[in-house]
Amino acid sequence: MNKKFPEGFLWGGATSAYQIEGAWLEDGKGPSIWDVFCMIPGKVINHDNGNTACDHYHRLEEDLDLIKKTGIRAYRFSISWPRILPAGREAVNPKGLEFYNRLIDGLIQRDIVPWATLYHWDLPVALEMEYDGWLDARTGEAFVEYAAVCFSHFGDRVKNWITINEPWVVAILGYGLGVFAPGKKSNTLPYLAGHQLILAHAKTVEVYRKQFQPVQQGQIGITNNCDWREPLTDSPEDRAAAQRALEFFLGWFSDPIYKGDYPEVMKQRLGPRLPVFSPEEQALIRGSSDFFGLNHYTTMYASDASGKKEAVSVYGNGGLSEDQDVHLSIGRDWKLTTMQWAIVPWGFRNLLVWIAERYENPPVYITENGCAFDDQLAQGLVHDPERIEFFKGYIRALAEALDSGVDVRGYFIWSLMDNFEWASGYSKKFGIIYVDQALNRIPKTSAEWYRRIIETNEIGS
Ligand code: GAL
Repeated sequence: MNKKFPEGFLWGGATSAYQIEGAWLEDGKGPSIWDVFCMIPGKVINHDNGNTACDHYHRLEEDLDLIKKTGIRAYRFSISWPRILPAGREAVNPKGLEFYNRLIDGLIQRDIVPWATLYHWDLPVALEMEYDGWLDARTGEAFVEYAAVCFSHFGDRVKNWITINEPWVVAILGYGLGVFAPGKKSNTLPYLAGHQLILAHAKTVEVYRKQFQPVQQGQIGITNNCDWREPLTDSPEDRAAAQRALEFFLGWFSDPIYKGDYPEVMKQRLGPRLPVFSPEEQALIRGSSDFFGLNHYTTMYASDASGKKEAVSVYGNGGLSEDQDVHLSIGRDWKLTTMQWAIVPWGFRNLLVWIAERYENPPVYITENGCAFDDQLAQGLVHDPERIEFFKGYIRALAEALDSGVDVRGYFIWSLMDNFEWASGYSKKFGIIYVDQALNRIPKTSAEWYRRIIETNEIGS
């Protein structure tokens, strides 16, 4: 394995608006579906919410300095749609623009490359109420309108855009299992929501390419998430089950973009529950990403569950497994993070190779990878050796994928700082920076470790 990374390899860190900003109803911001979802008893651990979160909105200057100190070269943040367009469309909130202008300028002054995500799940409530959110094409139209506002105000300085973060999570957790906003439970709605998300992405990219890219010269893409699925045994049935699980997970959103349509196996199994793209839509979607954004966290074994309905259960990370006939499990000796996600670096390498083979080796950016542990503050310090071990394993796996010819261009750790972890509230800590009760920021030992990786551009032993 070559320990050195290619010159110019981009080392970054990531966050999202709802998870860190707070100031949920300040300076003209409208409510998002996450603001409201958190109010429903039982949805979020400890009834936590993002009203204050890390108070990043008020501590911007301090956080910019902190970001600089970590040594990261690129910072991935998300823009809060209801902060820019409080009612989802039309009226623009000047204070919202001002906040992101300060953030972007602050990054550039510090020589950090901004990577902006347009949608990281905080849909304006107005659109949920008016159109039923992502079930209606009008939400997609509003998204294009909002995106154009962002391109025209920030695109002179932001050259890296991500349209939508993890449409799979929006569809499955938001519209299938009902554990994320807007909390719907169904085995049909995820496929409808997914369809609208893909179309909204493609239309946004079309607008960017036609109206902004020629002058602004940036790149635009989508970020999908996928775990690795390893066949439990060598049997043809289990191998087919693992392949099927990957196509239902990543293929669902990446096949339309790289091949123009949903995977055949999804069409066969879902029948009329899977919407159909018209030829014009296919042409619009195909090729609508300048890079392959990937968020990756864990691996599971997959085995065939055809005809064994009792063995199939619904896993948060497995999608609607009854549609796939896949049984998921983990290795007995696999170590777990506090999310109960197994630490399996080789799964990361296998997934990267699978992507390169299936999609003709596109340029890949790892837009998230990381882990939660129960970090504790002791004598003013936070030691997190497990996180360092995790990153070592995953960054080595990345280096191996590079050696096999996979075209990975950058890697963003999730996350810069401990934050609001959706339905888990503040009970799960993903950051390389610890945030205490009083919201003080204390870099963990992993932050120092990561800084050295960035400086040397290599992964030592
Ligand atoms: C991703 C998500 C992030 C973060 C992370 C850890 O799915 O994009 O916002 O929460 O998972 O669970």
